[in-house]
Amino acid sequence: MGAGLEDVIAGESGICFIDGDKGILAYRGYNIHELATNSTFEETCHLLWFGKLPKKDELDDTSKKLAGSRQISGQVIDLMRAFPKDVPPMHTYRSAFSALALYDKEAEEMSPEANVRKAIRATAQTATIVANIDRLRKGKDFVQPRTDLTHAANFAYMLNGELPNSTIAKALDIALILHADHELNASTFACRVTAATLSDLYSAVTSGIGALKGPLHGGANEAVMRMLLKIDDPARVDDFIHDIFAKKQKTAGFGHRVYTTEDPRATHLRRMSKEATERVGQAKWFQMSARIEEIVKAEKKLNPNVDFYSASTYYVIGMPIDLFTPFFGVSRVSGWTAHILEQYSNNRLIRPRAEYTGPVPELKWIPIDQR
Ligand SMILES: CC(C)(COP(=O)(O)OP(=O)(O)OC[C@H]1O[C@@H](n2cnc3c(N)ncnc32)[C@H](O)[C@@H]1OP(=O)(O)O)[C@@H](O)C(=O)NCCC(=O)NCCS
Repeated sequence: MGAGLEDVIAGESGICFIDGDKGILAYRGYNIHELATNSTFEETCHLLWFGKLPKKDELDDTSKKLAGSRQISGQVIDLMRAFPKDVPPMHTYRSAFSALALYDKEAEEMSPEANVRKAIRATAQTATIVANIDRLRKGKDFVQPRTDLTHAANFAYMLNGELPNSTIAKALDIALILHADHELNASTFACRVTAATLSDLYSAVTSGIGALKGPLHGGANEAVMRMLLKIDDPARVDDFIHDIFAKKQKTAGFGHRVYTTEDPRATHLRRMSKEATERVGQAKWFQMSARIEEIVKAEKKLNPNVDFYSASTYYVIGMPIDLFTPFFGVSRVSGWTAHILEQYSNNRLIRPRAEYTGPVPELKWIPIDQR
């Protein structure tokens, strides 16, 4: 068995298909390129949760339920106000999300219908939490969500306190679609392990948030932007990257456990980064990224992953760097909850075995004063 469960099939799922050698990603049979070009985040949520593309009335219904579930309880807002302001927002996001369970009367209700309602609330309310974490830590007012905006536009509205232009709303919507699900990635697996104990949906999602935070998973997008800011000058890219190689460090935003070719999400994010950076007159972030890609590809044979070009895209949209990973959660909660629902629908406790590498299990007891 490979370390890190590499290539191990750890369960069945009908949600997400990945062919890492051909660079194919599909949700419920629909290629990510089709979805990124034609769908919306609301429609993608419906697809992930219910298995089929919605008809018009079904999409209206799901969109309305999502929009109508955005408000979080006043007690959670008070709790968020009391959080320290200078901590990584992934901590406050994880804590606030976990607290939603305390005020949801259905938290312990395990019927399929109640769990779908909680999946919708979890997805809707994650955006409210993440956007407002940033406001509250900066001493700004809590912005209540609006019900007349799309999920993407409402997120930007809560974050900035003003309506986004349609280009930004569209870019965020595509980013939400691209990040929504990715089979048994570390955070989704964590969600499923918790769900498989028949613990509640809030506990399962909270496990996923904890796993997403790490720099080997969702945290990589922040590391990419910090690297770009450190380089700052396109003329310094080559030296900087060669220095990373010389120190035998990893380049953030490259490599993937499953893809041996281009991550299909990176294809869209590369284009989005180019467009977004040029539009605001900050093309250098894209140019530097493109040069880094050239070097890492040529010398390390590694491709950029989903986090590489999302970094510069979010940065020029005006998203704070340490909100990049929480924003990943704003999208991925849709996939997490789809997997949790699937796990509940055909559950068996997930409890693998370990290959034992400790001492022979026959050691004799040694009294403490003789050790
Ligand atoms: C994504 C990632 C965790 C996958 O990890 P993994 O499948 O366990 O792969 P490994 O870390 O074992 O890497 C395999 C080899 O490729 C190298 N490698 C992998 N990613 C690399 C990177 N970003 N930069 C330089 N080398 C890298 C490793 O050093 C290792 O080389 P070795 O065999 O000579 O020791 C890993 O590529 C990584 O750490 N990337 C940077 C963080 C990141 O972007 N994460 C977001 C993922 S979406």
